[in-house]
Amino acid sequence: MKKIALVTGGTRGIGAGVSKALKEAGYLVAANYNSGAEVAEKFNKETGIAVFSWDVSNYEACEKGVKEVTEALGGTIDILVNNAGITRDGMLHKMEVSAWEKVISTNLTSVFNMCRVVIPSMREKNFGRIINMSSVNGLKGQLGQTNYAAAKAGILGFTKSLALESASKGITVNAIAPGYISTDMTDAIRDDIKAKITAGIPVGRFGKVEEIAHAVLFLADEKASYITGATLSVNGGQYL
Ligand code: CAA
Repeated sequence: MKKIALVTGGTRGIGAGVSKALKEAGYLVAANYNSGAEVAEKFNKETGIAVFSWDVSNYEACEKGVKEVTEALGGTIDILVNNAGITRDGMLHKMEVSAWEKVISTNLTSVFNMCRVVIPSMREKNFGRIINMSSVNGLKGQLGQTNYAAAKAGILGFTKSLALESASKGITVNAIAPGYISTDMTDAIRDDIKAKITAGIPVGRFGKVEEIAHAVLFLADEKASYITGATLSVNGGQYL
């Protein structure tokens, strides 16, 4: 029987690449999205991947959303990829409280919400793969991203702690820390700043979503059973 994978923020950017790669590798995939119904419908038509809409920053919505997925796909979640994330960049001295709260709830509280909902069934069946999307900027900090870097660093502590709690239950919990990947999120960065960032990447370019998806497949594999609590950097060689 095919394993079931759920990817949050799974219809755009890195998440879309991850959903497609998981499907190609033989998983039964559900892609969550929140805003962008049109993009999600197009993604569904093009890929045949089932899409489900809910706000991952809302606990009750996660409970309801996961229930819909398990009913539609006919089983509980084997692989959870917590990928959904947003930016609200700005220097701290100019940052609105709402930009802090929105990023923390969407990027970090969402990881609690989704894991909290999914982990009981993983514990019951003694198998699970949880892959949390952190960021190079959670590891090293980034001008204009106190909110985002705090959330992405928070994910690392969460990942290591849940890995300890889950180690005896066949569940691995790992983080991937992507560098700058070509998506709508990084397209929004001003060209002069993009050039500065690229100059700091040894490989000399932004990464591709497929390069992150490949790391997800590796960690999702049954054979990756001895890797847990780890952070896998996929960042073109940036020294941290
Ligand atoms: N790398 C190097 N220098 C940077 C930089 C970066 N990432 N971001 C800003 N700077 C520099 C600017 O060039 C500028 O330098 P000068 O004073 O020499 O001109 C200085 O820092 C101050 O920046 P701004 O003049 O742009 O200040 P601002 O208040 O107008 O804007 C900002 C602030 C909105 C944070 C803007 O600088 C910005 O968008 N920076 C990019 C932040 C960034 O890297 N975000 C990552 C988004 S992608 C992502 O988050 C995915 C992931 O996980 C990697």
